[in-house]
Amino acid sequence: MMKKKIAIFISGRGSNMQAIVEQCQRGPLKDLAQVELVFANKASAAGLEYAKSQGLETRCINSKGLKRLDFDAKVIDLLSNYELDFIILAGYMRVLSSPFVQAYQGRIINIHPADTSLHQGLHAYEWAYENQLAATKITVHFVDEGMDTGAVIAQASVDLKGVESLQDVEKRGLAVEHQFYSATLKSLFEA
Ligand code: GRF
Repeated sequence: MMKKKIAIFISGRGSNMQAIVEQCQRGPLKDLAQVELVFANKASAAGLEYAKSQGLETRCINSKGLKRLDFDAKVIDLLSNYELDFIILAGYMRVLSSPFVQAYQGRIINIHPADTSLHQGLHAYEWAYENQLAATKITVHFVDEGMDTGAVIAQASVDLKGVESLQDVEKRGLAVEHQFYSATLKSLFEA
């Protein structure tokens, strides 16, 4: 089978991007996917340094001050230089415009650190912590024009029993995210 060519989109730390890169190098995605590009919408995205250190192609277009459609047009233009099978959002803090979603219909994936039917948008771990949930969910879903509204691909549960701080919640959640995102991509790419 041909490896899927993927671009990973980040806005910040990039720990999910790093996990996916590692799993493409020597994990479950090894024979299934190849990272063609790591893209960020801000130059300060810390994950870019890691991507560069791995010899990956990185690109950045600063979204600040640009209208959504104008920015997305630039990104679509950039992506036209690559033959991508999937776009993997990993902490990419922007809602995508309709032209972008349509250009890659059914091929844009996101990870959200909550059950997307219960909580959308920012601060999902805070939400779980403040509501004292005994468990929360991580959702991997297709991306549409809404904020965390696309069709769910898979969900994983995070046990929150005994957590003592928001940091505990994030630590447990991210540990699940880092495995679960790649595991879900593996199933999707094998299908
Ligand atoms: C993760 O919790 C992810 O689920 C959410 O934003 C966070 C990004 O973290 N969409 P990182 O940049 O992958 O470390």
